Amino acid sequence: MDLQLQDKSVFISGSTSGIGFGIASWLLKEGASVIINGRTDASVQMAVDKLKDTYPSYKLKGIAADFKRHADIMSLKEELTDVDVLINNVGIYSSESFFSITDETWLEQFEVNVMSGVRLSRMVLPTMLSKDWGRIIFVSSECASLVPEDMISYSTTKSAMHAVSRGLAHMTKGTGVTVNTIMPGSTLTEGAESFLAQVAATENKSVEDVSADFFTEVRTSSLLQRFASVDEIASTVCYLASPLSSATNGATIKLEGGSTGGIL
Ligand SMILES: NC(=O)c1ccc[n+]([C@@H]2O[C@H](COP(=O)([O-])OP(=O)(O)OC[C@H]3O[C@@H](n4cnc5c(N)ncnc54)[C@H](OP(=O)(O)O)[C@@H]3O)[C@@H](O)[C@H]2O)c1
Repeated sequence: MDLQLQDKSVFISGSTSGIGFGIASWLLKEGASVIINGRTDASVQMAVDKLKDTYPSYKLKGIAADFKRHADIMSLKEELTDVDVLINNVGIYSSESFFSITDETWLEQFEVNVMSGVRLSRMVLPTMLSKDWGRIIFVSSECASLVPEDMISYSTTKSAMHAVSRGLAHMTKGTGVTVNTIMPGSTLTEGAESFLAQVAATENKSVEDVSADFFTEVRTSSLLQRFASVDEIASTVCYLASPLSSATNGATIKLEGGSTGGIL
């Protein structure tokens, strides 16, 4: 299937590793021009070099910007005004008791997880609307719906993201622009892999057993009963970025392996 992404330019926040990096790889394979992002020049350069090794002839660049820093975000304006596809992927979390998590952590997570998407969308949406084409994709989490008690702040930011996304979709009525949100479940990124390895070493278990335990003891509602691969998430994002997804707008696409339940 040709996803018709060859002439599209894409910015992905927080994409030097993890799901964002996976999305970048998939979009490059589809021929899109991709701008990746991380907090430092060094991490961005390392990720650009890695992608260039695999896709030498592809259109790729990186921009360092830390979404905790307002000035960094504002410096992106000129570079991003014309992007066809914005993927609001950056997200930070902590697993902590409601009683110990500080106001600073709450506000930091809101700043990075919600305000990054607000500010970036404000930069790109006017041009998308005037061109009558564009895609904004928010990367939420199953936590927006499940709200685990050790991740209330993170879950709150992710549910707020759904309101931002849906509200922006209303602004696209009658145009070729769409705004959608994906809701991944537990996904096997490098970060998740090293966390599983750490727990396995501490508990003297195999990584496979620790991973299986997570679904029998913690994420019991998962129908998938395993971590999703980064590719399983990135491929759906590629489709939503494509002109082929034009009838999907204001939607939440669940990629959580059925963990949140319900028929919708
Ligand atoms: N992994 C999961 O199981 C899972 C499940 C559901 C939803 N999600 C959501 O999916 C998205 C991606 O998750 P992930 O697990 O792939 O994340 P991750 O591995 O923790 O992401 C790391 C990436 O985020 C960048 N980053 C971190 N803080 C940043 C900041 N302040 N400013 C700019 N970039 C920053 C890092 O850049 P540098 O290191 O280069 O600075 C790196 O590129 C997040 O929104 C997350 O909430 C993840």
